[in-house]
Amino acid sequence: MKNIIHKLGKPLIFSTFAFSFYFLNSHKFKGAIFNNKIIHCLRTQERYLTPDGKTPEFFEELDINQLEKKYPNLVVVKSKAVDYLIGMLRDKTISTSQFRKYSNRIIRLIIEETLAFEANQDTIKESPMGFYKTKHNPLKDSDYCVLSILRSGNSMVEQFLEIIPGIYVGVVLVQRNENSEDKRPIFFFEKLPKNVADKKVFLLDPLLATGGSASATIEVLKSKGVKEENIFFLNMISCEEGIQQMFLKYPQIKILTAKVDKYLLPNKYIAPGIGDFGDRFYGTD
Ligand code: URA
Repeated sequence: MKNIIHKLGKPLIFSTFAFSFYFLNSHKFKGAIFNNKIIHCLRTQERYLTPDGKTPEFFEELDINQLEKKYPNLVVVKSKAVDYLIGMLRDKTISTSQFRKYSNRIIRLIIEETLAFEANQDTIKESPMGFYKTKHNPLKDSDYCVLSILRSGNSMVEQFLEIIPGIYVGVVLVQRNENSEDKRPIFFFEKLPKNVADKKVFLLDPLLATGGSASATIEVLKSKGVKEENIFFLNMISCEEGIQQMFLKYPQIKILTAKVDKYLLPNKYIAPGIGDFGDRFYGTD
């Protein structure tokens, strides 16, 4: 017996010490970023407290798989890169140039996802090592055009032109009436590419909030003969309310978005969102 205790003694003392160390530390301090500062939060049953003892209220996240099941024409880009970049973009303390840098990187990923979505035909190609299967898009660049909802949509046009330099570009100026309660949009101006009715249209607006501006633009497109199923609405951040409104009115369009936030606030801003995209991107805030 004495021998056994003697044999077990050291490992027992060591494992008790290791367990106590782990237990104490797992409940103790954990680094977190709050208001752009690395702070130490006290973790108590997954609740975080700021150093001055307050509980930050985090916005809840939506179940994206459920949402995509509910809306078959919705494509949410799933990528760690997008999640990371949107996390950086939301930060209210970043400069205009950082905001542009992160936006451009996210927009690129949305455009690539959209082009990949359109490359839907199986094909066989040959690499220097042999044959392989891949997808391709049978359409030409001239079968497409982009349509920017001014002014924020222009941020996405710049990235499109880097990827498809020859793509036709149209613009519409539709602005939400900040003085009205429902922020109903007012239509000012449109300049569309020739033969727009025969093209697939990438409608560009970085935020889908109420869907008011996008709906007003789609009405213009439809009046020019563009088919609903040829409209792709690309945005960076959307919310379920806006998505629902768009599909209620235009069930055949496609919406491609990098992130769906859960909340649309009474002032019609998305939360957690990024604030006013145009002001932050163009430095007018
Ligand atoms: N437009 C923006 O710029 N931000 C929002 O949150 C909603 C609409």
